[in-house]
Amino acid sequence: MKTLLVLLTLIVVWLLTYGTPFASAYPEKAHYYGSPEVILPMTFAHGDHTETRCMDCHHNFVDDTGGEPCMHCHVSDTSVSGLLEPQFHDFCRGCHEKEAAAGKVSGPVRQCIACHLSDLRP
Ligand code: HEC
Ligand code: HEC
Ligand code: HEC
Ligand code: HEC
Repeated sequence: MKTLLVLLTLIVVWLLTYGTPFASAYPEKAHYYGSPEVILPMTFAHGDHTETRCMDCHHNFVDDTGGEPCMHCHVSDTSVSGLLEPQFHDFCRGCHEKEAAAGKVSGPVRQCIACHLSDLRP
């Protein structure tokens, strides 16, 4: 009983000093990538995606529609803006799911925070 109390006290002191380890940073919506609307941040690093050809993602270069960042179009072009969530989830998470199903190293599949916490661009 006494050890339990000591343990609990230590935990409380830890939490008060360092904050909870569970509910850490929370994603904040903002005008990322020049988006005219506030959106969730997208955690994305090219360094994790060197196996994929540039054009597979930067389709706008293939069809020559422009060189601007994805969200310039995907948030403001009304032909696709309503599809932001399903299209990007299919695209990003879809590939991660395929890779994971094939037993390969993949990016996040379920953990929202792994893709929506920070804005890592390089
Ligand atoms: C897996 C998908 C993917 C691949 C592969 C990829 N990119 Fe990207 N790229 C993105 C995303 C997502 C962004 C970030 C959002 C944005 O800024 O539009 C981005 C941003 C960029 C930007 C900054 C755009 C800007 O104006 O802010 C450049 C430049 C770029 N990529 C070049 C490349 C080149 C060159 C390659 C190939 C060597 C490449 N990318 C491969 C998805 C990809
Ligand atoms: C110049 C505007 C523009 C830019 C920049 C752009 N897109 Fe798109 N994107 C579109 C339009 C318009 C469509 C719908 C028409 C189509 O399917 O080609 C689309 C479709 C898509 C789709 C759905 C394709 C499908 O087959 O369902 C995905 C995924 C996508 N874009 C991802 C991206 C990513 C990732 C980037 C940045 C690396 C990007 N787009 C940059 C305009 C753009
Ligand atoms: C064609 C396949 C493919 C596409 C498309 C793709 N990814 Fe990935 N992603 C991967 C693979 C494979 C890895 C694992 C790389 C590694 O760890 O070596 C990865 C890793 C990641 C990671 C790193 C996770 C970590 O543990 O550090 C994040 C975050 C991520 N992807 C986000 C995205 C986002 C956001 C998009 C869409 C804009 C995207 N990915 C599109 C294949 C893809
Ligand atoms: C593999 C990466 C990835 C995972 C995992 C992921 N998302 Fe996303 N999600 C994206 C990308 C990329 C976009 C489009 C760009 C953006 O909105 O930042 C997006 C868009 C969204 C949007 C629409 C617009 C916005 O930004 O407000 C919502 C809402 C959303 N995601 C919620 C979730 C939730 C909830 C989960 C967990 C169940 C989740 N996402 C998991 C990558 C991911």
